[in-house]
Amino acid sequence: MSEESSVLSGEDPAYKPEFDISKPTIARIYDAILGGKDNFAADREGADAYMKYVPSSREVALDNRAGLSKGVRYMAEQGIDQFLDVGAGLPTMENTHEVAQAVNPNAKVVYVDNDPIVLAHGRALLATKESTTIVTADLREPESILNDAEVKRMIDFSRPVGLMVVGLFMHFHDDERPGDWVKTLLDACPSGSYLFMTDFADTGEPQQAAIEKAGLESLGNGWVRKPEKIKEHFHGLPLVEPGLDWVSRWFPGEPDREVPAAEDLEPHLRIMMAGIGYKE
Ligand SMILES: C[S@@+](CC[C@H](N)C(=O)[O-])C[C@H]1O[C@@H](n2cnc3c(N)ncnc32)[C@H](O)[C@@H]1O
Repeated sequence: MSEESSVLSGEDPAYKPEFDISKPTIARIYDAILGGKDNFAADREGADAYMKYVPSSREVALDNRAGLSKGVRYMAEQGIDQFLDVGAGLPTMENTHEVAQAVNPNAKVVYVDNDPIVLAHGRALLATKESTTIVTADLREPESILNDAEVKRMIDFSRPVGLMVVGLFMHFHDDERPGDWVKTLLDACPSGSYLFMTDFADTGEPQQAAIEKAGLESLGNGWVRKPEKIKEHFHGLPLVEPGLDWVSRWFPGEPDREVPAAEDLEPHLRIMMAGIGYKE
């Protein structure tokens, strides 16, 4: 973290918050679970609810972050050099731009998050990078993302895009038709683009019910979904091998890689699934 960012830290008693810190937010609870410093008491209470119901919540979050790195690296290795990372979260380990730019130093990354704290805390981290930017916008209004001046400046929608909706979909109920929002973004991306998603899966196991309970208690959202339902949100795009799978078994583009049997994974590693769809 840069000096400016640490001045903004929620742990600094002199910090004058520019946000409503009385209510937890998804970004800050996730930060607290990951052991970050950009969170406040209400967020830490929210994180405690996760820990109460799912003591391995940090490992679940780290599992998701490992999946994020794998997915970004895969897309970058396929030649994707512009990424639209929706629901980006606060800067943490192996951020999208770091993974993508390790493969291709010229890769551009636009982070999108509806929580303004992401812009405030991310700006310091990204200040020196012209190829990386952060936009405050809401997936619920996908047109506002597409029409955002920064998005337009950075992303050339006539060329393939790596569209990312990672660790976000569980926060929307299907009654809200979140798939429609992603479809609007996907429709703006040309063939050769990818859609990368991770989500909480529901295969009927207790740890999955527990994480849903934690989310509903702390945030009022955070549902699990049947894998078939998660697949629907790829809108029929063929999935890159091995398809949709538990993150720790998921190595995109490496279908022959030896991975543990799903039933041998620890229960907390049977919460988060990942998949990448390819737009032909
Ligand atoms: C659990 S974090 C995931 C962060 C990161 N993508 C990852 O997987 O590690 C979800 C992020 O989505 C953001 N978010 C929630 N609702 C959103 C919305 N409607 N539009 C854009 N971002 C949203 C939250 O503020 C939070 O930063």
